[in-house]
Amino acid sequence: MSTTVDPGGWALVLHGGAKEIAPEKEAANRAGCLRALLSGAAVLRAGGSAVDAVEAAIRVLEDDATFNAGRGSVRNSDGEVEMDAAMMDGATLDVGGVGAIRDVRHPVAVARLMLRETPTLLVAEGAQRFAAAQGAELRGPAELLAAAGDAAHDTVGCIALDSRGDLAAGTSTGGLEGCHPGRLGDSPVPGLGFYADNGLGAVAFSGDGESISRCMLAAHVMHRLEGGSPQAAIESAIARLGRVGGDAGGIVLDPAGNIGWAHNSPHFAVGMVRGNDDRPRIYLSKGEEASHD
Ligand code: GLY
Repeated sequence: MSTTVDPGGWALVLHGGAKEIAPEKEAANRAGCLRALLSGAAVLRAGGSAVDAVEAAIRVLEDDATFNAGRGSVRNSDGEVEMDAAMMDGATLDVGGVGAIRDVRHPVAVARLMLRETPTLLVAEGAQRFAAAQGAELRGPAELLAAAGDAAHDTVGCIALDSRGDLAAGTSTGGLEGCHPGRLGDSPVPGLGFYADNGLGAVAFSGDGESISRCMLAAHVMHRLEGGSPQAAIESAIARLGRVGGDAGGIVLDPAGNIGWAHNSPHFAVGMVRGNDDRPRIYLSKGEEASHD
């Protein structure tokens, strides 16, 4: 259990997907990431928890059709919208996940409601029944579908460290265009698309879910954090994908607030802010960050 409070010790990192960003979509990606970053940062600046900050940031991304989550979801091969989301509390190792859920505005909020429940993952109708029983906000498929022709985007994610030293991770995805009904990727499964443990760090991925799952990328990052930096851990994870192929990007925070991020996709929309300088930074690729240093 955490006891000390460092008012400037918080940090928040989010991503809007590992993907190719067309020049005309750059501004929307930057603006959406910044809005989400400011929403999560406001929670942490006010002394709120990492779990609350992650939920606040991802809710903003889910309401923005620029990103493949919530409003920016895509159709499976039946023409249906099925979404996945998860949340993990690094202080308690509580996990909440929903898979192939339909008709909710904020899948991440349903995952958050699952956090203190015994099951770690509910799927399909079971997840929808849970969401309805909890009074989750509903949305029909027409309101959740991405603009036609805009399938070049992927999962969103967020990780945060609060002023008490607690870490959290969250993910949300609007599915894979034309995928088999009921398909789950990495996003709702701990150790695959995300993980958080106060003693080690927090991580969230985006990208080809089957590849991320086969390589257990989040678990790999957590093992690498035992003796290395967040940047080394995430670079090692992305390199591991070479065994199976596929594109991905990942963000990592350690308990001291050190940040790592990497991707092998053409772009990776990332935002980050720390309490001790409180200056939001948004990048669309690692190369862009390097050119600003
Ligand atoms: N990374 C999201 C998915 O493959 O479902």
